[in-house]
Amino acid sequence: MRLKDKTAIITGSARGIGKAFAARYVAEGAHVAIADINLAAAEATAKEIGPQAFAVHLDVTSQESINQVVKTIEEKRGGIDILINNAALFDLAPIVDISRESYDKLFAINVSGTLFMMQAVARSMIERGKGGKIINMASQAGRRGEALVAVYCATKAAVISLTQSAGLNLIKHGINVNAIAPGVVDGEHWDGVDALFAKFENRPIGEKKKIVGAEVPFGRMAQAKDLTGMAVFLASKDADYIVSQTYNVDGGNWMS
Ligand SMILES: NC(=O)c1ccc[n+]([C@@H]2O[C@H](COP(=O)([O-])OP(=O)(O)OC[C@H]3O[C@@H](n4cnc5c(N)ncnc54)[C@H](O)[C@@H]3O)[C@@H](O)[C@H]2O)c1
Repeated sequence: MRLKDKTAIITGSARGIGKAFAARYVAEGAHVAIADINLAAAEATAKEIGPQAFAVHLDVTSQESINQVVKTIEEKRGGIDILINNAALFDLAPIVDISRESYDKLFAINVSGTLFMMQAVARSMIERGKGGKIINMASQAGRRGEALVAVYCATKAAVISLTQSAGLNLIKHGINVNAIAPGVVDGEHWDGVDALFAKFENRPIGEKKKIVGAEVPFGRMAQAKDLTGMAVFLASKDADYIVSQTYNVDGGNWMS
């Protein structure tokens, strides 16, 4: 057990990749706050994972909500050892059709949410004096432009940049900040992405998913559990000397 008795908060972990992280962290001995805007789904996920997982309502776009969640976990568990900034939203549109509403929403969740969660948790970790690990979810989309994905790509580039600066600033407190950049991960998120591509590229539902999966050098899309090893490693003592990095876990997708 590599995370025995550690306390983790994982944003957006009611489903998808965050849920897989939560299940793996519990298997490694951690207690995990399933912190999601969808409380009913978070409660169902916590129940499914077991008694070391507990649900909390969190809207990463609300400072009040962030402060409340940090306080709740401090009171319940005595402090926070690990934060995974995982909550995010995706959208897709050609440049000429991007709406301000979509732009504001994506930046509020993916970028401001990541920064102000890091800030609140880092303050708590500094006060406690035991250091900690912060892992931000970036994406291959943050390493390049994509014709129809300008805003999401920009938010994930910002996550990579925030990880670099926050890592440099916080390591003096024993807080390691690093990021994971997945490629294409199967699940409800990508079902939504597939439906958007179907609309904008005039394709049948399911076709885009087949194409992107076949293009991955590994030979298929990732399953959420393919990412959990890196999330455990970055949260463990083995990663103490790793600062400000973004690791691709993508079956070779970015390299190709
Ligand atoms: N799925 C992929 O192919 C892929 C690829 C690269 C990167 N990523 C990144 O990995 C992370 C997880 O992706 P996923 O596929 O599991 O996504 P998902 O859409 O399945 O899950 C996102 C979760 O975030 C929650 N959420 C949304 N808004 C929130 C808010 N304001 N406050 C709190 N929670 C909120 C949702 O309720 C949901 O449970 C994201 O950061 C995503 O950008 C995913």
